[in-house]
Amino acid sequence: MAIPICLAMVNNLPSHRLSCEKISAMLNPRATAAQIIYSVAHDGLNLDDAFERHLKQSEQASHSFIKAMCFGVMRFYPRLLFFLSKLIDKPIRNKEKLVECLLLAGIFEIYYMQTPSHACVSEAVKAGLDLKKNWAKGLINAVLRSALREQDSLQQIAKDNEGARAAHPKWLIRLFKKHWPTEYKAIIEANNQAGPFTLRVNLQKTTRENYLASLTSKGIKATPCPHSAAGLQCETAVEVNELPGFVGGLVSIQDQAAQLAANLLAPQSGERILDACAAPGGKTAHLLELGENINITAIDISEPRLQKVSENLDRLGLSAEIKQGDAQDPEKWWDQNKFDRILLDAPCSATGVIRRHPDIKLLRLPEDIENLVQTQAQMLSRLWPLLKTGGMLLYSTCSILAEENDQQIQQFIQNNQNAREQIISAEWGHARQHGRQILPGEDGMDGFYYTLIYKEA
Ligand SMILES: C[S@@+](CC[C@H](N)C(=O)[O-])C[C@H]1O[C@@H](n2cnc3c(N)ncnc32)[C@H](O)[C@@H]1O
Repeated sequence: MAIPICLAMVNNLPSHRLSCEKISAMLNPRATAAQIIYSVAHDGLNLDDAFERHLKQSEQASHSFIKAMCFGVMRFYPRLLFFLSKLIDKPIRNKEKLVECLLLAGIFEIYYMQTPSHACVSEAVKAGLDLKKNWAKGLINAVLRSALREQDSLQQIAKDNEGARAAHPKWLIRLFKKHWPTEYKAIIEANNQAGPFTLRVNLQKTTRENYLASLTSKGIKATPCPHSAAGLQCETAVEVNELPGFVGGLVSIQDQAAQLAANLLAPQSGERILDACAAPGGKTAHLLELGENINITAIDISEPRLQKVSENLDRLGLSAEIKQGDAQDPEKWWDQNKFDRILLDAPCSATGVIRRHPDIKLLRLPEDIENLVQTQAQMLSRLWPLLKTGGMLLYSTCSILAEENDQQIQQFIQNNQNAREQIISAEWGHARQHGRQILPGEDGMDGFYYTLIYKEA
């Protein structure tokens, strides 16, 4: 498996921000990176929350560098741990795991970033001092110098170790093999690359052609997405404020696979739509962009995430009824008026979007899958009575595991006599026993699953 060495490939940040040469930090950026990595690996924070907690300790100019380093360490964590195990005589003690995180960041910088090797070692030593780990000065120096010296042989032996080569937890590799015996290697490869920077043009305000022209005039290269009429895939990531008309709502950032939902549900003018797990509102907004006079009730259990729905809709000049609520307990928020269509974009293992959220490799546990399957089943059965006869429910996940997808739907259809699958015929994804599955990387897309279910009398 090819091991990417270009920094622009290990994160999805604009490449012009990736140089670390000009960084002079309040706290050495590698010290901040080590703390962020520690927060995910040992405190169970997700990467976004860890950035929120720690980034401010280092200078603004270093933030892109730190993010690139942390994304990369998450992406290759099992492989970096393997390298480290070959470079130290005995495991680092539990109470010194921050030093281990710094060493992983150091190895990542040497092997996958473009920093001159001598600087990787000396900066990691300085970062150790910033973290008040003076005792570890010799250790950091020795381990990273060995990492430099032994790079070729270590990369070679990593190829013979499946966990290190694939850079995924073993239980996930086992599940991918079980469900996708032919495709699992491509899935793993795709998960280890950063996803493309994809836009959804607001077709209520402009056309895709016009928007593409305005991108081109700004020197931003993009191509139309094959499966979404509103989608444009950019050659490289850019800051949102560099996107023409972003503030005025001409465009949003959304993967092409996620853009398929609104057209599949196909809301019609005057209809009442329920978006049952709506935050941060990407699909809610797209549904509203598809036509006039669409009434959406957007529910999510998370109040802070619902705030993002409001912000997104405000920017796009759209509106919906936004309510905090539990999709497993609609009696608490439902007004007893049935819906014409329901989107259930269910909480899931997110195994289809590991390339965008590599912290999943550290945070997700095997036992989570069974809990998620139960939650999804409960949501399906509790929301079904809210749909009118003749109405349509779109079930989607960003998972590639059958338990959460076609097996879940199989169970649902078995339990509900009035549920009939509406076959999705499309040029994307794989037809499953029920619904269609996109695997990560296919046509540039995230891994996604969709099924349409029609409600009979
Ligand atoms: C996959 S995300 C939804 C993404 C969203 N549809 C979009 O396109 O932007 C799943 C959402 O389900 C929400 N969620 C989790 N459990 C829930 C529950 N019991 N009831 C309602 N929402 C829930 C999470 O807060 C999360 O925002």
